[in-house]
Amino acid sequence: MNAPVSTLASPAVTVAPPTALLELRNVEKTFPGRAKPVLTQLSVSIPEGQFAAIIGCSGAGKTTLISLLAGLITPDRGEIFFAGQLLNTPGPERAVVFQNYSLLPWLTVLENVSLAVTAAAPRLSRQAVREQAEYFIDLVKLSAAIKKRPRELSAGMRQRVGIARAFAVEPQVLLLDEPFSLLDALTRFELQEQLVHICERTQKTVVMVTHDVDEALLLADRIVLMTNGPAATIGGILQVPLPRPRQHGKILEHPAYYPARDQLLSFLESGVLSLDTTRKGQKGKEDEDAKITTLSPVDVYELSRWDADAGVRAE
Ligand SMILES: Nc1ncnc2c1ncn2[C@@H]1O[C@H](COP(=O)(O)OP(=O)(O)OP(=O)(O)O)[C@@H](O)[C@H]1O
Ligand SMILES: [Mg+2]
Repeated sequence: MNAPVSTLASPAVTVAPPTALLELRNVEKTFPGRAKPVLTQLSVSIPEGQFAAIIGCSGAGKTTLISLLAGLITPDRGEIFFAGQLLNTPGPERAVVFQNYSLLPWLTVLENVSLAVTAAAPRLSRQAVREQAEYFIDLVKLSAAIKKRPRELSAGMRQRVGIARAFAVEPQVLLLDEPFSLLDALTRFELQEQLVHICERTQKTVVMVTHDVDEALLLADRIVLMTNGPAATIGGILQVPLPRPRQHGKILEHPAYYPARDQLLSFLESGVLSLDTTRKGQKGKEDEDAKITTLSPVDVYELSRWDADAGVRAE
């Protein structure tokens, strides 16, 4: 049985210096013209080298959280720390893959990726920049489209350019907002495996938003569950009870896989994370090993149902 997670910062105001690489303390964010905050009392720490997945309903504020971590927007209350320093601007050490890919439309695939590499490593020679960009474009299987501009690409191809760009700058932190959502099953599968390899090889710190519980269980060390908006916060944290290295298929055989999956699905359905889940093993016998209590010691909030209107982004 896993020990309770103890890495979640207390919702109470604290003056202790941050020890994790990324730390949010009591963060609140309200967009102009909105009566209620999108996020409130949001406190979480992400240690160096950890892969944290963020799961929550549409409109919960996940992209807002990624934008805060990227330094693209600032909180109205609370603090965000990166490596012990207050974070309020973007920086090359934190690369983002946006949900809407955010490519420069007048540049080719190669130029979009190369520009990011040059910005992150200005001293790199032109040849080295090109090689690095080409390596990651090949990794996402876009070598044939290297001279194309974003308008000539499908949505999934654009998403892959965004992934190549983020990987190519070799950042300390990867902030990924549903990076594989538009990909076909095979490409998604391959890129998930690449991400597993890259993270296991480089011990990168990753924060990744996903709606896919299987993806979260494959990739993450911890899964941060967001309550429904408005005024969303953290409803619980699931420590992923699966050993590394992880492989597609293989992890399904682990006795803790399906209980953890059930917990996540039940959270998404009901908004409440059960503290203790016992599930019949795949072969039908009660499996005591499958009994997991993986919640953090923070409270699990009783959640209101998600208000569909509140989840519609104002464009
Ligand atoms: N720039 C903005 N101005 C005003 N409201 C915004 C802005 N960005 C987001 N919102 C609102 O904040 C809420 C959370 O949006 P956000 O995009 O963070 O949700 P999300 O969890 O990423 O949703 P999804 O899963 O659909 O991507 C929504 O109600 C949205 O309409
Ligand atoms: Mg989003």
